Amino acid sequence: MKFFADTADIADITELADTGLLDGVTTNPSLIHKSGRKFVEVVAEICKLTDGPVSAEVVALDHPTMMKEAEILRKIADNVCIKVPLTIDGLKTCKALSDEGTMVNVTLCFSANQALLAAKAGATFISPFVGRHDDNGFDGMKLIEDIRLIYDNYAFETEILVASVRHPIHVLEAAKIGADVMTAPPAVIKALFNHVLTDKGIAGFLADWEKTGQTIV
Ligand code: E4P
Repeated sequence: MKFFADTADIADITELADTGLLDGVTTNPSLIHKSGRKFVEVVAEICKLTDGPVSAEVVALDHPTMMKEAEILRKIADNVCIKVPLTIDGLKTCKALSDEGTMVNVTLCFSANQALLAAKAGATFISPFVGRHDDNGFDGMKLIEDIRLIYDNYAFETEILVASVRHPIHVLEAAKIGADVMTAPPAVIKALFNHVLTDKGIAGFLADWEKTGQTIV
């Protein structure tokens, strides 16, 4: 399973990239706003921190303007992945860009039928938002299960990118279903490393090691 960081925070991306476990980054207009940085500049900086896909989202609603925005964004770096919303114009843009060999992440997916359309449009990634689905009384993980089944039925190559991840259980459930990618806020990714028994175990081993009076280096 690939891990993407859902953030435009350079310090967090640098820290996660340094672990060697980061496979890409996703941004959205809200995250760009939160960063307080210029969109094109911050995406260019992120693209240098990872070799993996960096999603940059168009903000136009019509196909011709989406194409113009995508043209600017994809010039930033080879690993830019154009993010488009799951609308008719978004999928038209997805089809046109993927036909040209540009990576596309179709975002704001809330139904399996929408995911089916995105795959037919040649999306590189489909982003179902599990957290927002759960927030509204739907079952986010059932959506992932349905998309996995449909994509496997037809051998679609579009990767399922579980988005709007809120906590480690979302990551666990997505991995059990066989989602290809998950994108999560840095705090959620960092939480995956932790377990109280790991900390307790280290403390116990170190206490006994001290008593040996030995050093390794
Ligand atoms: C995905 O690419 C989106 O940026 C993101 O996961 C949205 O998450 P949110 O629902 O926490 O805003």
